[in-house]
Amino acid sequence: MYPLIRNRRLRQNEAIRHLVRETIVTPSDFLVPLFVVGGKGVKEEIASMPNYFRLSLDHLEQEVKELWDLGLCAVLLFVKVDDNLKDNKGTEALNDQGLMQRAIKTVKNACPDMLVMTDVALDPFSSYGHDGIVADGQILNDETTEVLAEMSVSHAQAGADFVAPSDMMDGRIVTIREALEDEGFSNTGIMSYSAKYASAFYGPFRDALDSAPVDIKSVPKDKKTYQMDSANRFEAIRETQMDIDEGADIVMVKPGLCYLDIVREIRNEVDVPVAVYQVSGEYAMVKAAAEKGWLDHDSVMMEQLIAIKRAGATIIASYFAKDAVKLMG
Ligand code: PBG
Repeated sequence: MYPLIRNRRLRQNEAIRHLVRETIVTPSDFLVPLFVVGGKGVKEEIASMPNYFRLSLDHLEQEVKELWDLGLCAVLLFVKVDDNLKDNKGTEALNDQGLMQRAIKTVKNACPDMLVMTDVALDPFSSYGHDGIVADGQILNDETTEVLAEMSVSHAQAGADFVAPSDMMDGRIVTIREALEDEGFSNTGIMSYSAKYASAFYGPFRDALDSAPVDIKSVPKDKKTYQMDSANRFEAIRETQMDIDEGADIVMVKPGLCYLDIVREIRNEVDVPVAVYQVSGEYAMVKAAAEKGWLDHDSVMMEQLIAIKRAGATIIASYFAKDAVKLMG
């Protein structure tokens, strides 16, 4: 008689596995990060991110049309700024003719229904490579949040649907929310990088934007005074809850794979959408191992994306979005 229950019955062929599958990744799960650079006709591969590119506005236009045709309906924009436009105040970030502002308009012109989210932080604009204003070896909090609020308004004016503050200053969500309301942008949303850890997995991204903290004595060499300690769990919940109370519409955990325990915990605690950012280093590891023939690229990619969704992600920001969707057919 034994056993009456055999779990393998539900695994015996793809049809039954498909029927009982609990987690399915679809194109609508993805938020596609895009790196924008000045000039024309520029499509530069990022050395530490194989098959990922910095795009000038003309290529950006082509790219978003292609994404749209693949069923990818949301992008997250980052800009690479020339060194001579960087300072310690984020001046260029507020330029209404700046690269970000033009990129937003380019996407909206090419693809009016594409959801446009924009990165809000000072690091790509900072001569020191920090997410905030630096003074006396410190990253100033309240002075920075004021600039981030102005930056958010500028993105909203250019047509951004959501601003995505990735800086981890205290109180930036409420400051941004109030500024948007004051300027009449009550429909512009905020996706907060609420539990963002000080992670070594951001290396390739900093290559992409040339935004790593500079190596000079008076400037902190890492971001540990504002990004979270990777050892902490309760703090992630507190950060996230505070951002929701301050007006965040969507919260985020970042990086992805090493932090899926945090994703699940936050998913269980809060009732707003939870985004997960599978970051540049995670992408680079898979690409590198696959190039060496040590891992099967597509299988590992899908297993990781499913894991992120299974952990509780409503939205997955991933450099694999296009690869994954093409694989889905
Ligand atoms: C900066 C920012 C970073 C990323 C997104 N926004 C890097 C950092 O905090 O240094 C990382 C994304 C990635 O690694 O893919 N505000």
